[in-house]
Amino acid sequence: KKVVLAYSGGLDTSVILAWLKDTYGCEVVTFTADLGQGEELEPARKKAEDFGIKEIFIDDLREEFVRDYCMPMFRANAIYEGTYLLGTSIARPLIAKRQIEIAKQVGADAVCHGATGKGNDQVRFELGYYALKPDVKVIAPWRLWDLNSRSKLCAYAEEQGVAVPESKRNEAPYSTDANLLHISYEGNALEDPWVSPDEAMFTRSVSPEEAPDEATEVEIAFEKGDPVAVDGVKLSPADMLAKLNQLGGDNGIGRIDIVESRFVGMKSRGVYETPGGTIWLDAHRAMESITLDRGAAHLKDELMPKYAEMIYNGLWFSPEREMLQACIDKSQEFVTGTVRLKLYKGNITILGRKSEYSIYDEKIATFEEDSVYDQEDAHGFIKLNALRLRTLAGKQQQAHEL
Ligand code: ARG
Ligand code: SIN
Repeated sequence: KKVVLAYSGGLDTSVILAWLKDTYGCEVVTFTADLGQGEELEPARKKAEDFGIKEIFIDDLREEFVRDYCMPMFRANAIYEGTYLLGTSIARPLIAKRQIEIAKQVGADAVCHGATGKGNDQVRFELGYYALKPDVKVIAPWRLWDLNSRSKLCAYAEEQGVAVPESKRNEAPYSTDANLLHISYEGNALEDPWVSPDEAMFTRSVSPEEAPDEATEVEIAFEKGDPVAVDGVKLSPADMLAKLNQLGGDNGIGRIDIVESRFVGMKSRGVYETPGGTIWLDAHRAMESITLDRGAAHLKDELMPKYAEMIYNGLWFSPEREMLQACIDKSQEFVTGTVRLKLYKGNITILGRKSEYSIYDEKIATFEEDSVYDQEDAHGFIKLNALRLRTLAGKQQQAHEL
């Protein structure tokens, strides 16, 4: 009996570690991922060692996260319910995938995560686990134990010899989840959707009011739908997103405060900071505006909410997501070029776009004389489009006169 635990090194997952040993007497393997959450990971190793853990995995997954998860998702311009850039949703499948790889490598039959029984994350982790290892046993302590208050959790921690820092004794003001793409805040102080968050909560962006009075101009180069360079400097996927986060955060970009529909059925209020992702999305759309044909662009826009919902609901490793991905990726073949943007106090303005594959043709669009577009053609085009409207209006008039 061996279990691989997704271990952050924080109090909650440390309690889970102790609980697993206490409850099942099983061998625990810890897995800690660096997804760019901005926390030191070595303390997690030290803590796991102190627990007597022999197999400790600490992996830097930042490049893989941006290259194989964020990039495919941004090709689709995915947003959930019109606002949420899916920063937590897109990270879960990667954690699940790596956890299962480790389980296979160390011969573990079970995996364990620290998500509660009320949220989306449990679904995302577990659908990922089952899709990749159909016979895996899943342990979700929050659905099993009765440590459902802070005082119970702390009391159990102490009984098990888990150090409880003074700052963790009381309920945290918010539950957060962070990675290179975003940071989320939910719960406690944010539970009343009428009450806005304290400015001090934010960690990745200045407020638009505090942003510089001078605008920042930036150029983003795309290749086949993915950003590859910022201001002429080629960057790795993770470095690119870090750079955009810097630019966005400095200019008060990417904060949202929403109420969203969780997969399990409840509404939940969440606040998010996605500075780089917000710039990325706008720039990508501008790039597509000159490189995608209307038919392809509109179909993409129709499919997008479906695709976003799949990611939100934890269906990354599913045949339907892969089908849509193939379709989206095909559309990006010529989404190559450069977008110029202005960042100013929370706003993004597109200043220009260019591409060697641009479909935009000044010769056709011009108000001056041109040779391709015969204005006479528009007459028949409109007349046939009007046929059914005229028929309908004619019949209605007749009926009215009767
Ligand atoms: N509501 C967001 C989502 O479902 C964020 C979840 C944050 N998770 C967390 N463990 N704090 O994607
Ligand atoms: C949790 O319940 O573990 C976090 C929130 C969510 O998964 O939606």
